[in-house]
Amino acid sequence: MGFSTDAIHVGQEPDPATGAIVAPIYQTSTYVLEEMGKSKGYDYARTNHPNRKALERTVAKLEGGTAAYVFTSGMAAIDSVFRLLRPGDHVILSQAVYGGVFRLTTQLLVQFGIEFNFVDTSRLDEVAKAIRPSTRMLYVETPTNPTMIVTDLAKASKLAHDRGLRLVVDNTFLSPYLQRPIELGADIVVHSMTKFLNGHSDCTGGAVIVTRPEDAEKIYFIQRSAGAGLAPMDCFLISRGLKTLAVRMERHDKNGMEVAMHLAQHPKVKRVIYPGLTSHPQHEIARKQQKGFGAMISFDLGSVEAAKEFLNHVHLCSLAESLGGVETLISLMTHSSIPRDIQQQIGISEGLVRLSVGIEDVGDLIADLDQALAKI
Ligand SMILES: Cc1ncc(COP(=O)(O)O)c(C=O)c1O
Repeated sequence: MGFSTDAIHVGQEPDPATGAIVAPIYQTSTYVLEEMGKSKGYDYARTNHPNRKALERTVAKLEGGTAAYVFTSGMAAIDSVFRLLRPGDHVILSQAVYGGVFRLTTQLLVQFGIEFNFVDTSRLDEVAKAIRPSTRMLYVETPTNPTMIVTDLAKASKLAHDRGLRLVVDNTFLSPYLQRPIELGADIVVHSMTKFLNGHSDCTGGAVIVTRPEDAEKIYFIQRSAGAGLAPMDCFLISRGLKTLAVRMERHDKNGMEVAMHLAQHPKVKRVIYPGLTSHPQHEIARKQQKGFGAMISFDLGSVEAAKEFLNHVHLCSLAESLGGVETLISLMTHSSIPRDIQQQIGISEGLVRLSVGIEDVGDLIADLDQALAKI
């Protein structure tokens, strides 16, 4: 079946007990046994529940994996992937990785003896040089948040597999509708489902999609042992959001391109970073491996003062953290979890603004951006 059909029907079957077209929210912590040792498939909601199982089937299908596991946030999902490692193991990550991943690895997981190295993964020669005998994993975010650096996934997967590494890809910025890392060779895909997969900014969630049975077994073990599996209500909300993923992404993509082109010719904007523009250094790779360029745009207003002035004058765009909702969200890239010198190294300048273009009427968005730009 096609992507939209799968999004609407896989894991989204009518409730067998009543025929309800939308499965109920199983808001319960425990399940009564018929007799000792005999359950109806569920015993305790930390371990599993019907809403989680349903969402995991949908997400696995949409990403083209063999199984998926959903967690309370993107960070909980990513943390579970690093728990596949052991003390002494080494990981190479994209240099401009999301700040939360930088903090998790460099401040928390290092305490458990795992070693992390940050490399510009758009330069695979640099990645090859960083591989050590203890390297187990190559962790790539593409495009990166918020610097929009694109890594060639087919080439990264060849390098990883030639050297015996797992390739893990964070597909949050594009969703499986616009980018399919597993088809390009990824072993594991992670998501902050808080973003485009949910799409309605009403809960947090994360997903790990796997391709190998041994990873499936371990991630499920971690999910039920550490207890960060996603709760029934949140699974329900994300399952509901996924039904419209294809149509939302089409509109996000179209609006993203129009807004990026508008900002690129605006005299108050110093630089626009959007893989859909021919000025983007990895534009050709993005064109080859993505079905569209998405809704995420970063642009530089030259100074933190100008950026603050601009952000204080937007009306329709919401001044908020996060991204991927139907409403346009805009924020200053303070990235407090990354030290200032590293921010400069990876291209997070002081006046950098990140825009998550929503699915409103694009003319209204451009008018709002223009009137705020006129204030600086
Ligand atoms: C690319 C990327 N990965 C992971 C995360 C973490 O997800 P969450 O906030 O759901 O924990 C984020 C959050 O912004 C993100 O942008």
